[in-house]
Amino acid sequence: MDKLSIDGGVSLEGEVRVSGAKNAALPILCAALLTPEPLTLSNIPRLNDVRTMQALLGQMGVKAERGDGTLTLVAATVDWPLAPYEMVKTMRASILALGPLLARCGEARVSLPGGCAIGLRPVDQHVKGLQALGAEIDLDHGYIDAKAKRLVGTTYVFDVVTVTGTENLMMAAALAQGVTTLENAAREPEVADLAECLNAMGARIRGAGSDRIVVEGVAGLHGATYAIMPDRIETGTFLTAAAAAGGEVTLQGARAGTLQAVLDKLAEAGAEVVADADSIRVSRRGALKSVSLRTAPYPAFPTDMQAQLMALMTIADDTAVITETIFENRMMHVQELKRLGADIEVEGGTAIVKGVRRLTAANVMATDLRASACLVIAGLVAEGRTTIDRIYHLDRGYERIEEKLSALGARIRRVSEAGGE
Ligand code: UD1
Repeated sequence: MDKLSIDGGVSLEGEVRVSGAKNAALPILCAALLTPEPLTLSNIPRLNDVRTMQALLGQMGVKAERGDGTLTLVAATVDWPLAPYEMVKTMRASILALGPLLARCGEARVSLPGGCAIGLRPVDQHVKGLQALGAEIDLDHGYIDAKAKRLVGTTYVFDVVTVTGTENLMMAAALAQGVTTLENAAREPEVADLAECLNAMGARIRGAGSDRIVVEGVAGLHGATYAIMPDRIETGTFLTAAAAAGGEVTLQGARAGTLQAVLDKLAEAGAEVVADADSIRVSRRGALKSVSLRTAPYPAFPTDMQAQLMALMTIADDTAVITETIFENRMMHVQELKRLGADIEVEGGTAIVKGVRRLTAANVMATDLRASACLVIAGLVAEGRTTIDRIYHLDRGYERIEEKLSALGARIRRVSEAGGE
């Protein structure tokens, strides 16, 4: 099993190019199920989650072909509208196949995700929304069994704001009969990116990116070519790393408008942030100020950046209060940060982070994707050599992170254990 070894205390300098967004790529790959014609995608990040989704679609009968920087998916026929437990348990986003399968095939069998390291994460909104569109759904032995001759447009009000729930219903409604209105929809930029791709395929979707999405169903979708949006969480992670380690880093291909809440917090913390049309530069020369934050659905501060900002706050000048409101168990990085000398107390979903003068190296363990990124940031500032174990979490969502950080001057390398574990 691979580990990362980081010699901390070096500032970061230079430029790095942002990869395509994981959370836009995953639903857009599923959108290929909605048409028998080719969907050609560019800016697809090379990540384990993307490979898992490709494998899942492959099992259903979708053909994939890599071109020069592109991936073409062809769902000429969908032979097997099934997402088995073995796949869904490794990647919860497999639930995104449910809506498209049902709309295209009239039936789908998708495993329930079950427990997850960062909380319960139920899928009741996906199920209730599809039922509102006329699907018959049975829960059988941990599987969602869905059937519908043709879905029928309706108005559905989400009880909670859910990103993949909104995406699933938007994809299902694209082929439904009549108009579907989704109220209290997730406003995340990845939802808007999916809608743009679906519209390029002939769908009629308005309002994606707002909390009210109107989908006029069409009889069929056609092939298209689409470029995935840049990853705002990868962008935020590198900017936070630069603010923590000091120095000056430019993120090329970044869209500042998709992560304003993060940029505001970095600026409040004392970093200088300069954004233009397709790049963001961050530098930090002076001391870091403690800033408090609370996660909430977009456009508020993203839960996927909470752990990274906490790493930054461990070395700030005062006390920061960090509150997680989206997932109930997303503080597992705290214990690992403490091994590096951080002073943090957790009560419920709130962490009180008292800044310390310095972090010192230790052996730590990655517990989930964004917790891993937080430990990388902490390792970059800690004195001495930090080793991060279980970095397979990191490979799910960050493309070549150690190469990109090395290019900025970080002393970071991947260590493959002889014989493995
Ligand atoms: C997506 C992102 C993930 C991010 C999260 C929140 C993808 C592939 N993943 O996950 O990186 O951390 O948004 O921004 O895009 N909920 C329900 N019932 C449901 C669905 C969700 O109660 O049917 C709850 C969840 O338990 C959670 C909250 O709603 O507390 C938000 O979850 P949701 O937006 O659905 O997260 P994901 O779409 O799984």
